[in-house]
Amino acid sequence: MTTDDLDAYCASHQDRFVAELVEALRIPSISADPAYAAEVRRNADHFRQAALDAGLQRADLIETSGHPAVYAERIVDPSLPTALIYGHHDVQPVDPLDEWTSPPFEAEVRDGNLYGRGAVDDKGQVWMHLKAIEAHVRTRGELPLNLKLIVEGEEESGSEHFDELVERERRRLHADVLVVSDTAVIAPGVPSLCTGLRGLAGVEVWVHGPSVDLHSGAFGGAVANPVDVLARILAGLHDPVTRLVTVPGFYDDVHEPDAEERAFFARIPYDDSEFRRLAGGVPATVGEQGWAVPELLGARPTLEFNGIWGGYSGPGSKTIIPATAGAKISCRLVPNQDPDDIARKVAAAVLAAAPAGVRVTAEPKAGGRPVVTPIDHPAVQAASRAVARVFGKNPLFTREGGSIPPVETFSRVMGMPAVLLGFGLPDDRIHAPNEKFTLDMYAKGIRVLAHLWDELAVGLRSSAVARS
Ligand code: BES
Ligand code: ZN
Repeated sequence: MTTDDLDAYCASHQDRFVAELVEALRIPSISADPAYAAEVRRNADHFRQAALDAGLQRADLIETSGHPAVYAERIVDPSLPTALIYGHHDVQPVDPLDEWTSPPFEAEVRDGNLYGRGAVDDKGQVWMHLKAIEAHVRTRGELPLNLKLIVEGEEESGSEHFDELVERERRRLHADVLVVSDTAVIAPGVPSLCTGLRGLAGVEVWVHGPSVDLHSGAFGGAVANPVDVLARILAGLHDPVTRLVTVPGFYDDVHEPDAEERAFFARIPYDDSEFRRLAGGVPATVGEQGWAVPELLGARPTLEFNGIWGGYSGPGSKTIIPATAGAKISCRLVPNQDPDDIARKVAAAVLAAAPAGVRVTAEPKAGGRPVVTPIDHPAVQAASRAVARVFGKNPLFTREGGSIPPVETFSRVMGMPAVLLGFGLPDDRIHAPNEKFTLDMYAKGIRVLAHLWDELAVGLRSSAVARS
């Protein structure tokens, strides 16, 4: 059997593949907002049905104390290798809504791109997997290996119940390798395989002053202002010159890249003006001195403010001393840093900076660990061959600054190596208004994933033979 059969099938069904994704993008599965819980469940059910339609057998919702995940499998022969596909069916919130050209949950094709929340992160990339499976089952009647699929419903809100789910379901989820399509390539003509992701730690800070907003004339000058206090605390968390995080112990466990790793980062193509364009036209990049941008993103930790609130910001003026102010902080972590440890240290630094006259709280949030995947693993090499077949060139190896905590869970709890084979582009605007998936990448991604199963079946079998 040649592999042209798969390509031909994908080409002749591509229009339907797009139409199906448009339908899947209609369900507002925002996991962070409890008001959408029923929609996340409806979405899980939509993916469960789609898995069955694609040719997976048995598809169930797996309940957690949060949003449900979807599990499906097609076990061909227990003596064949088994791959587990991980993805997520939940999406980020959509605000600011008025910046969307077309409504986030009424996906629309414009100029070869499909615009909608979840188009690429991650509904579209999960859908690619379903269509690649469908291509095998419909053209050949069977898959060349055993496949399992787990599609989480809480990735975008911190995967709070996922460790527990993996512990509980470890027998069912067991596989030789994990395959995740939830990352991006370097550029449309520069395919890449991601080999590392940062971890995440979070803290929410509140500054409580007077029990109600006060008149800023009647009380101003004699009462601490929570917005002022918050601004000073937050500003103190970085050194203004070196840009290092000032939280005591923040860098204690940071893995220092050796010469070989620095050479790895030096091979990642980087174009400053293109990067600034992707970053929304910022006039300059900033960061710790001594590190190139790919290293800043892949090998150095950060502390960022994701949101800040307090007082009046409506039209005109309102002369008050606000009762409260607050901020959401998140840190990106690199190998050896522990999310709970970092969240505790950040919270302690915030509390230590609290002055008299206010009450400050700092609550650590669930995080996730960083992960580095093995480049020389036969599964990664198989993925590289599958990419080369469709893109006509070998992929480069990268590390990305984003986080997918479940990847580390699978490696820690189940010892599974991960192949991070995503087809987003750096300008897809994930988590922002006008998120898109380029339809050419969607089509190519489906073909790569279809070829992946052929390559993996051979690659994992021969490595098993070599080991025995
Ligand atoms: N798909 C992203 C992860 C990603 C982003 C990988 C950019 C590579 C480049 C994922 O869905 C995501 O956004 N994860 C969250 C995790 C968090 C909520 C625990 C993230 O990175 O903020
Ligand atoms: Zn994602």
